[in-house]
Amino acid sequence: MESLGNWRRSAYCGGVSKDLIGGEVTLMGWVQKRRDHGGLIFVDLRDREGLVQVVFNPSAGADVHLKAHGLRSEYVIAIKGAVSKRPEGTENPSLKTGGVEVLAGELKVLSDAEVPPFMIEDECDAGEDVRLKYRYLDLRRPALQKNLRLRHRVCQGARDYLSGDGFIEMETPMLTKSTPEGARDFLVPSRLNAGHFYALPQSPQLFKQILMVAGFDRYFLIVRCFRDEDLRSDRQPEFTQIDLEMSFVDTSDVMAVAEGLLARMFKEALGVELKTPFARLTHDEAVGRYGLDKPDVRFALELRDVTDIVKGSGFKVFADVASKGGVVKALNAKECAAFTRKELDEMTELAAIFGGKGLAWVKVTEEGWQSPIAKFLTDGERKRIDAAVDAAPGDLILFSADKKEVVNAVLGRIRVKLGKRLGLIPKDSMSFVWVTDFPLFEYDETEKRYVAMHHPFTSPMDEDAGKLESAPLEVRSKAYDIVLNGEEIGGGSIRIHDQKVQSKVFGLLGMGTEEARAKFGFLLDALSFGTPPHGGIALGLDRILAIMTRSESIRDVIAFPKTQKAFCPMSEAPSEVDKKQLDELSLRVVKKG
Ligand code: AMO
Ligand code: AMP
Repeated sequence: MESLGNWRRSAYCGGVSKDLIGGEVTLMGWVQKRRDHGGLIFVDLRDREGLVQVVFNPSAGADVHLKAHGLRSEYVIAIKGAVSKRPEGTENPSLKTGGVEVLAGELKVLSDAEVPPFMIEDECDAGEDVRLKYRYLDLRRPALQKNLRLRHRVCQGARDYLSGDGFIEMETPMLTKSTPEGARDFLVPSRLNAGHFYALPQSPQLFKQILMVAGFDRYFLIVRCFRDEDLRSDRQPEFTQIDLEMSFVDTSDVMAVAEGLLARMFKEALGVELKTPFARLTHDEAVGRYGLDKPDVRFALELRDVTDIVKGSGFKVFADVASKGGVVKALNAKECAAFTRKELDEMTELAAIFGGKGLAWVKVTEEGWQSPIAKFLTDGERKRIDAAVDAAPGDLILFSADKKEVVNAVLGRIRVKLGKRLGLIPKDSMSFVWVTDFPLFEYDETEKRYVAMHHPFTSPMDEDAGKLESAPLEVRSKAYDIVLNGEEIGGGSIRIHDQKVQSKVFGLLGMGTEEARAKFGFLLDALSFGTPPHGGIALGLDRILAIMTRSESIRDVIAFPKTQKAFCPMSEAPSEVDKKQLDELSLRVVKKG
């Protein structure tokens, strides 16, 4: 291999423009492709800015030409040459540098390369496991280069915006105590304190609140968070938040900052102007109309409550559910009466995943209802249902009957599936919506106790605080989520800053004073030394970037992501460790099974 010597790059490959015609350049990069054409050798040379065609002509020197003949894909080379206009008819308009080529005079081979396991091109048919194992090759693909450079610009935009708005970028510990974001912690054993563990932060929640007590007034951090939860395409065990906290504010102040911040990020990334303020839905409206607390408002297809119509009907399933305080809701899949048995079964399976015990259906025809449940309902009931869902011949009505939560979850998911399948989602739309007025608590049936819907430091609404003891489930909170195209891209709240309210909330969460002290004593102490009213929000950067880049998965906007099993095929983490390391940490591994 040759060394760089005194050669220095004069331009990026992708930056060789027509302005440079007639001049000499020194280029360095990776061989994308080599083609031998009766004497002439063409090399597409690639760097992060793009490709340029380099031509080796035997007349420019036999030894250089011979060396060029030995070039293979992904070799790293440096060339010196003259930029010239491409001969008439050989221009490549699909390439930024397609009007020029570089006639190489000198060549250095800086590094050779193994044959890569897949081509470094955007159309890559290698499986994700292979791509992640050779992530450095995967990352050479233009699409991923583009995504990660966009990530940089978006972060830069966010930093500028927040710094410009008086926010101070700070740092919070990574080796810390458990934070209450509802996921499992990643634990780190302490060598100096045998048997004790740090937790990696699920978010900087407690520390950012303490920074408000400490008087910093406005904090932000682009921060890695760690959550040991079941992974999906929109979840990674470590992910990045743009996290902020503000003092002396109420919900509308935090929401306005988040809107300005998102507007700046989208302007930076896509050049689009977002219309602010964003629409708002209360939690009740969101789940009532769309079934989910992260409603995709790009299309209608709303759920309709038909409980009143069917509660006294002859269809036992519906009548029973209604009499037990459940609900019956319907969704009109327009023009889907032609769905096959198999398609209906698929919908029913989806319903079952979310707890649905069935999914009654009705095909609306010119002659009336075609449905297994038609015979159980009167003419009048059928007409009222038709009217409620705005049915016309050719439509398919789907029903779910159960507890409210189950019905909403089932029909909410089916709505999203239908929206995609029926092509109801406008391609380029970016639909932001705030979801507000979340309940402070939900009831966990398996654990038989209340759990915080956001986190235990979220403030109840002032007007509901009186119901904390009498009707906890009716208490709404000062929490807000921001949803984009049906995905939760951020969430936050105004915090409790009154000690008495905080202990009441801990009590309702089944946490005694002692437990609360053991878990969050340092925060509670801090809050007792003069706390400004404060609140904040965290945006999920990876999710936002995935939407901006229209990526299937957030893995495509993260340089080194993990698989669904939280494994890194490249570094092979997690891995076993030496006995010596375990001994130092006073740990012993007991394998199950
Ligand atoms: P929350 O838990 O809602 O709030 O997290 C904020 C946002 O982070 C993103 N997110 C994730 N992204 C990728 N992978 C994950 N595993 C993952 N988990 C969450 C989501 C989510 O909306 N401390 C509070 C914020 C606050 O109250 O200020 C918090 O962390 O887009
Ligand atoms: P069955 O009388 O149980 O055969 O049910 C008749 C139809 O009602 C079938 O299409 C079932 O899928 C549907 N069904 C049963 N239970 C429910 C439910 N809880 N919600 C909606 N549809 C249901």
